[in-house]
Amino acid sequence: MPAIVLIGAQWGDEGKGKATDLLGGRVHWVVRYQGGNNAGHTVVLPNGDHFALHLIPSGILTPEVTNVIGNGVVVDPAVLLDELSGLEDRSVDTSRLLISADAHLLMPYHVAIDKVTERFLGNRKIGTTGRGIGPCYQDKIARVGVRAQDVLDESILRRKVEAALEVKNQILTKIYNRRALDADQIVDGVLEQAEGFKHRIADTGLMLGNALDRDEVVLLEGSQGTMLDVDHGTYPFVTSSNPTAGGASVGSGVGPTRITVVLGILKAYTTRVGSGPFPTELFDEQGAYLAKQGGEVGVTTGRARRCGWFDAVIARYATRVNGITDYFLTKLDVLSGLETVPICVGYEIDGKRIDDMPMTQTDIHHAMPVYEEMPGWWEDISEARTFEDLPKTARDYVLRLEELSGAHISCIGVGPGRDQTIVRRDILA
Ligand code: GDP
Ligand code: IMO
Ligand code: MG
Repeated sequence: MPAIVLIGAQWGDEGKGKATDLLGGRVHWVVRYQGGNNAGHTVVLPNGDHFALHLIPSGILTPEVTNVIGNGVVVDPAVLLDELSGLEDRSVDTSRLLISADAHLLMPYHVAIDKVTERFLGNRKIGTTGRGIGPCYQDKIARVGVRAQDVLDESILRRKVEAALEVKNQILTKIYNRRALDADQIVDGVLEQAEGFKHRIADTGLMLGNALDRDEVVLLEGSQGTMLDVDHGTYPFVTSSNPTAGGASVGSGVGPTRITVVLGILKAYTTRVGSGPFPTELFDEQGAYLAKQGGEVGVTTGRARRCGWFDAVIARYATRVNGITDYFLTKLDVLSGLETVPICVGYEIDGKRIDDMPMTQTDIHHAMPVYEEMPGWWEDISEARTFEDLPKTARDYVLRLEELSGAHISCIGVGPGRDQTIVRRDILA
């Protein structure tokens, strides 16, 4: 039985939460492998209940699934406890959530530094979620981070926080003119929070390896998306981790040869939150139309998402860097009611046509989309359950995206609900 990776093919918010939830009934484990509470994943249950998850894997809403916060995730203990109690208040069983002993903990100084650095950057800012994600990963790579397992040894925790604060307080007070933070206060706070989660800390890499040996199905759930990947995205306007499929192995401890399916989640148009290049972005009433029809408001920060047409250059790139075997095309219903639907098939950069993602940041900033127009459809497709239920022009749009993207579109979303999905090919078969 395989390990499956589920990743965003664009700039996040493609509908990963819904896709994980849909597969939830058929997998034994759901693992988050990178990011933190910068993510916002929406799940709408068949009874209409609506959940917004940030740190906890979307599999928590499916009974019988064991959920893992993998070693590649950065965990803010306060957010973790809040999210757990919010779920428990709504009668969700949270007993099946484990946290990797190697996951890094996000400290109050990470949030403080995220906010001041963004302010300092002014109009060059990344537009981060302000959740401390970048600074926490900086500490991980600089080997001065605090990990979940450190709460099990108070003296180690204290030494690590004190050492980190020696430098952070210099930065906060001398560069940014902020107040210094107190190590004892932070450590005491984390130890108190740990009472609420330390029983969940486990050697999750070992458990996942054993589960795969027992033929159980493991779903590795990505956050963010390919174009926000620190290596493969639109750097520096990216997040500080690797959402791409390679990151799934690193961030979970599941060896790459055990991954047999890579499911890309692809929105039928494009959105982006925060700063950075976006070749197909619309600044006119058509962009406003997509934003309104698609309800394009960030789940984590409440910011309006920037909207634009489908970009096949990005889809082809996502297929390549992730080794995507199947796509789940979401939000096709949002495009109903358009006379024609443009698809960006390539870019023109300084008068030259190119079909692949440009090599340099300068070129992507200069990229002008080259559009092909497809006829639109007027029908409400939210009740379609088979490919044949879709109007011919909608089917042609999907088939053209499939051709341009270079991977099979196996599922199509026609609404936010779990049942509002067309399955063309069973990815678990
Ligand atoms: P994620 O971050 O990738 O999990 O996506 P978000 O939850 O941030 O944003 C996706 C939004 O689209 C959510 O509000 C979902 O409920 C919604 N959604 C997912 N699939 C579909 C679909 O096929 N059609 C429509 N109309 N909405 C969808
Ligand atoms: P999900 O999992 C969309 C964006 C931020 C910003 C950049 C860096 O819901 O798809 P960070 O706080 O990570 O340092 O911000 O990344 N960003 C997201 N955009 N969806 C997300 O998550 C995002 N997580 C981070 O807006 O541009
Ligand atoms: Mg989201």
